[in-house]
Amino acid sequence: MQKRLLTASLCLSCLVLFSFTALAGSPTGQARSKAPSFAIVLASFGSTDAEAQKVQDAFLQAARERYAPTPVYMGFTARIVMKKLQEQGKDAPSLFRILAELGDQGYDHIAVQSMQVITGAEFEGVKQIATAQEGLPKGFKRVVVGDPLVASNEQAAELAHALIASLPKERKSGEPVIFIGHGAEGRGGLSYPALNWHLQILDPMLFISTVEGAPSMDDTLIALPAPEGKKLRVWLAPLLALAGEHARNDIFGADPDSWKSMLTAKGYECMNIEKALLSLPAVRELWFAHLDEALLSLGYEKK
Ligand code: CO
Repeated sequence: MQKRLLTASLCLSCLVLFSFTALAGSPTGQARSKAPSFAIVLASFGSTDAEAQKVQDAFLQAARERYAPTPVYMGFTARIVMKKLQEQGKDAPSLFRILAELGDQGYDHIAVQSMQVITGAEFEGVKQIATAQEGLPKGFKRVVVGDPLVASNEQAAELAHALIASLPKERKSGEPVIFIGHGAEGRGGLSYPALNWHLQILDPMLFISTVEGAPSMDDTLIALPAPEGKKLRVWLAPLLALAGEHARNDIFGADPDSWKSMLTAKGYECMNIEKALLSLPAVRELWFAHLDEALLSLGYEKK
């Protein structure tokens, strides 16, 4: 119904004028196609945490410098985050709105980079919102969505190397490090055990766990060496794009059921690695590499 209305609204004289202009523009008499115009959107859940917002803004800034003069925007997916940011007077467009605006501005080739860690429900949502706008009348010709951090075995191996490269110097070999992710139902949830394996072939004292998925805290406690009365340092690190609520409460929080409290109660000495993934240069490079790939598949050439 909508399509029919749109077609009907194109009046005949406009069509004639358009054909004439297109023909006149080319010496061979054939319509010349306009050069593609590219734009980039970073699709993020976002965070209500001020420090996490700074980290995200820094990444946006780095992306703007890296891809200039191609415009780079942030599109949010969490209503609660958008509402909070808007209350603070910040422009925090939804992914849907920023894409619609770029379409209105005439951009026709769009790379949407997922700022998610795995291919969970959030990523699927980003893909759905982005690709729904491809090929609409007068809209984007192409929309490509860049992979989150881990969408394949190769990417899991790359992330394992980047995580090891980012470990604090104070961590002695043999001391366990637990990277704690969000957890996911469905296919995306397979990324965590896969990443655990990739880490452990490099260093058997590195573990992947989750706050609300598998491996769970109980799974990880079984795999962890027992302190047996000695002081055993365990490092806790968020496997989250940003260190927001989940990091502050579920991992490092003072509540008795946080990771830190539970492990301390079991006799471990907990060391906090409070930097989340977007704060780690080696991991940021992986996100950029995925965006480069998305742009490449759009036919983008760096100016
Ligand atoms: Co959650």
